[in-house]
Amino acid sequence: MLRISVLVSGGGTNLQAIIDGIESGFIQEAEIVLVVSSNPNAYALERAKKHKIPSVVIDKAKYPDKDARTKAIISALDLAKTDLVVLAGYMSILEPEMVDAYRGRIINIHPSLIPQFCGVGFYGKRVHAAVLAAGVPESGATVHYVDEGVDTGPIILQEKVPVLEGDTVETLAARVLETEHKILQEAIRKIIASKHVGKGGR
Ligand code: GRF
Repeated sequence: MLRISVLVSGGGTNLQAIIDGIESGFIQEAEIVLVVSSNPNAYALERAKKHKIPSVVIDKAKYPDKDARTKAIISALDLAKTDLVVLAGYMSILEPEMVDAYRGRIINIHPSLIPQFCGVGFYGKRVHAAVLAAGVPESGATVHYVDEGVDTGPIILQEKVPVLEGDTVETLAARVLETEHKILQEAIRKIIASKHVGKGGR
């Protein structure tokens, strides 16, 4: 059974996609053991509560010092015996200590076709605004392993999404978000099938 911990900051629709994937049986042999939020008001916490998934808020208010914050996140993940960490709408860049602690076992979902429109400053609606400003005919979503860089780790899955005439940031974001949910479920299935993920804590 793959023990998945999900890091969130906002609405949690990607967390919901994992929950739905497991509950529908599309994702087998996996359970979400913990949700860690960087935001005490994240609706993702409501989703966790509704599905009886343990959650913890580890934010700047509680841990102003970023090293202490990182240590608190690692401890929570270790305590939950996490096999795979999923960044799902998580709005903080991981410290090297965190990447080290779970190297090869952290994945992220990004709302563009990496290596386009990614890296520092490219998150949420800003990604889609840049895609529209560039006038490209298609965007997409990518699931990748997390390394020390920002959106730079090995790609696991990505899928194209058309940019349509008259698209706004909102309409493009909504279309890409649907694809995010789909490939996030598929990527977790792929990882389970490949059994490339280490077991237990560290
Ligand atoms: C979305 O913009 C998504 O592209 C990115 O994080 C944002 C919120 O995701 N991955 P969620 O609804 O909180 O999962």
